[in-house]
Amino acid sequence: LDKFCLGLEPQTQVRFTSTTSALKAQTEKKTAKAAKESRTFQAIQEERKEEAERSVLISCPPKINEKKFLDYLSKHGTINKHFFYNSYGANAVVEFSSRESIASLKESINIPAVEHEAAVPFKSRLLSLKWPGSQSSNHPMPKFKEQSPPSINEITQLLSERDSMDEQLQCLTETLQLTEENISLRFLVCSLLRDIAGAYFPECIIRPFGSSVNSFGKLGCDVDMILDLDGIYATSQKKGSGLSLEYQVKRGASERAVTQSILSVIGKCVDQFGPGCVGVQSILQARCPLVRFAHQPSGFQCDLTANNRVAMKSSELLFLYGKLDPRVRHLVFSVRCWARAHSITSSIPGAWITNFSLTVMVVFFLQQRNPPILPTLDRLKELAGPSDKCVIEGNDCTIVSDLSKITLQQNTDTLEKLLQEFFEFYGNFPFNKASINIRKGKEQTKPETTALYIQNPFETTLNISKNVNATQLERFVALCRESAWLLQQKEILKQSSDSPWGFAALLLPSVTSGAGVKSRRKRKLEPASSRIKNLLDSLKIKGGETVAKKGSA
Ligand code: CTP
Ligand code: MG
Repeated sequence: LDKFCLGLEPQTQVRFTSTTSALKAQTEKKTAKAAKESRTFQAIQEERKEEAERSVLISCPPKINEKKFLDYLSKHGTINKHFFYNSYGANAVVEFSSRESIASLKESINIPAVEHEAAVPFKSRLLSLKWPGSQSSNHPMPKFKEQSPPSINEITQLLSERDSMDEQLQCLTETLQLTEENISLRFLVCSLLRDIAGAYFPECIIRPFGSSVNSFGKLGCDVDMILDLDGIYATSQKKGSGLSLEYQVKRGASERAVTQSILSVIGKCVDQFGPGCVGVQSILQARCPLVRFAHQPSGFQCDLTANNRVAMKSSELLFLYGKLDPRVRHLVFSVRCWARAHSITSSIPGAWITNFSLTVMVVFFLQQRNPPILPTLDRLKELAGPSDKCVIEGNDCTIVSDLSKITLQQNTDTLEKLLQEFFEFYGNFPFNKASINIRKGKEQTKPETTALYIQNPFETTLNISKNVNATQLERFVALCRESAWLLQQKEILKQSSDSPWGFAALLLPSVTSGAGVKSRRKRKLEPASSRIKNLLDSLKIKGGETVAKKGSA
């Protein structure tokens, strides 16, 4: 470079040098980003957990002076990150660069004197900031980070401004997905809970799983947590003398009974000592016993389970599938949003299809493309290295953790095409005799007569959609057919400024549910009954292949 710079005008030299250093910085940034991108699921979880352990959650007065606030806290150490958000008032998450700062901070905090009541003297990292005297409002207000998803109307509005359906689906993911701050808050709530459970089991960890970590979480989704006691079993006993010591322990009738008794005690503790935890319910008779509660300072609904390592592995599997191709997440977010808009899914437990089932259905559909967009679970197992080996309670949960070992086939289908084919695929799926199996990537004969059979990826004798009844499945199929039909009417793909188009049109109330018949543009053209008849005609299966007669209605 020096050689090239020689003889240049000084000003040009400076420009050249600064361009070079800018390029270098850019390359370094790219390398750091690539390194971050290629981290394994476990590495990401560990890093976030560690960040959460260095963080505090502070309830703040409404007109907070950000600079003063940060100056005050910085006395205890360097602050890495912080953000403000609203949940029952203003709150801040502050992440220090070292855990010592938390210890130093804790030394300066008082337990409040409460009038007419008494305080449980539990010192958590959930704090309240008291501001002396009245606050002036002459300082700039900090930015408050949004933690809730936009409404369906807001989504429709946003989507209408896009230029194509593919852009709409990408925009949908960007709008609904968990933000960095929201994920940090989820890990922090788990870490705060761990401090309570740690009073009984100092080696325990509380880890988030499910949609908080599998990359398919939507703002506002619940926080599924696992009380991980594996660290207790790790031992460094020296062999040689023949002597050994064992802990004397209480025994329970079964693993399940022990899990129930641990969760029952921790549930009580969360209820009685956990600041900000309200509405604690212990649901210990469920297949997977759990403690459900609301964490007010974060606004999260939480489900705490124990001894549930397989579920963590399913989260890793979905995360991996989401990483392999960007279309996976876009399709999952669209299908979940569409299902929610039509009440196919619900936040209340019942006979509905769950988001987890829908995600597995999308994965299965993408394994069936020609060429396939996603590999089978068996293939992910074949590619695993020795350190990936994982057997949980007799279930082989081995999957490759290094994404670079996976080679994908070239498939350039657009999101619009994939969404349409998803609806056609499930609008015609032989649910009565076949089960969905992502391990084989092929439909299998249904082993039971339940309405919908989706094999649990790791506990292969279980059906993840056992709860779904025939009525709910029929609604899903009818809506798939209707949406497939609507997408065949290329009219809804035309951009429009006065009515929802493209994906937004698919979110409008359906004909099948009997509501909103007048709201669709196409509705005006012919009566619903004949349109549905044509829709059904157009989706007949010929020779095992779905034939969708374009524009048949
Ligand atoms: N799970 C399972 N079998 C089921 C239901 C759930 O293994 N029948 C596991 C899955 O790993 C799932 C997690 O439990 O991801 C959490 O379940 P749930 O909260 O119902 O689903 P999420 O994927 O978290 O989706 P949501 O956004 O609806 O919470
Ligand atoms: Mg969940």
